[in-house]
Amino acid sequence: MGVRRPSSLRSAAVAVCCLAILGAGCAADTPQNTFDPEGPFSRSVDDLIKPVFLIAAVVFVFVEGLIVYAMFRFRRRSEEDRPEQIHGSTKFELAWTIAPALILVFVGVITVSKIFYLDRQFKDAMQVEVIGHQWWWEYNYKDGDGKTFVAAANELHIPVGRKVQLNLTSADVIHNYWPPKLAGKIYAIPGRRNHMTIQADKADFYYGECAEYCGLSHANMRLRVVSESQADFDRWVEANSPDRPSFSYPIVGSDDQATASEEAKGHTLFLQKGCSGCHAVNGVARGAVGPNLTYFNSRATFAGAIFENDNDNLRAWLRDPPSEKPGSLMPKLNLSETEITSLIAYLRTLGDPGLRGAPVPSGVAAGPPQP
Ligand code: CUA
Repeated sequence: MGVRRPSSLRSAAVAVCCLAILGAGCAADTPQNTFDPEGPFSRSVDDLIKPVFLIAAVVFVFVEGLIVYAMFRFRRRSEEDRPEQIHGSTKFELAWTIAPALILVFVGVITVSKIFYLDRQFKDAMQVEVIGHQWWWEYNYKDGDGKTFVAAANELHIPVGRKVQLNLTSADVIHNYWPPKLAGKIYAIPGRRNHMTIQADKADFYYGECAEYCGLSHANMRLRVVSESQADFDRWVEANSPDRPSFSYPIVGSDDQATASEEAKGHTLFLQKGCSGCHAVNGVARGAVGPNLTYFNSRATFAGAIFENDNDNLRAWLRDPPSEKPGSLMPKLNLSETEITSLIAYLRTLGDPGLRGAPVPSGVAAGPPQP
């Protein structure tokens, strides 16, 4: 019996790792599984992946099989062993030219037809402008006249069974929008407008990612799509009107600290600590650098959809955003814990938590990333 050499140990380790990675891809509950499409456009992509993969697999097995067969059948058996010297074979050359050409024509035809289908712009599709930012998504729902009737961030609400055309661009660098269960990927490029149509089969929530490296927090640029009944969607639209001003509390001075409500103190801090310079709240602030917070409390997640919108996560975030999300443009504002309490109380007045759609599943956006 021979001693196991390190190289075979290494090969075994690599094989185990590959199997583990493969196994992880087969988990039952996979919110971003592109092989589990839940809409006609992602299904169309899936309908292409499967036959092309099958054809590639058959070609691979056939070609590798021939190589292995030739290795054993025609191996050199002695020093004098010489293969039979032949030159050219019209029969074989025709076969290995025509067969791959036919296969490629077939793959080409089904691919191009899918490309045209996925590129179609449907007249009845709802129009949403999607703007990629480092590191969050801005959504502006447009009516027939191009007027925004809802301005949202990170979480996209769509009615079940309705085509939604996303018109994508970027405010800074190149991003890539990818909700795997609903569609393929599409680039969001500064100064350019790309489009992609999505549609969901049922009321559910979907997760996605930015799929193009876009800086330090690329991995923290998630997205959430909530598909809901038309009635729920209408309720969400109604509650997210960009025309309705938020409640403005009176400014709380140092004399009123003892008597003022937490919400009023938070409102004052929002205006005085610089928040309002970057964030819009209808009727209160017009900042346009960060997400519009008018309906912040209607969202199930925040900060690029990486954190569940609960008080603990919000407190950790307000304490030190860049440590929660590396590279975050929102700076550490050195807020005291009492100031954070007031700001959270104010943020909770913005929007209706009843409109968050399906709950956030455990393990997904369930808190700050672990080191
Ligand atoms: Cu945006 Cu990666």
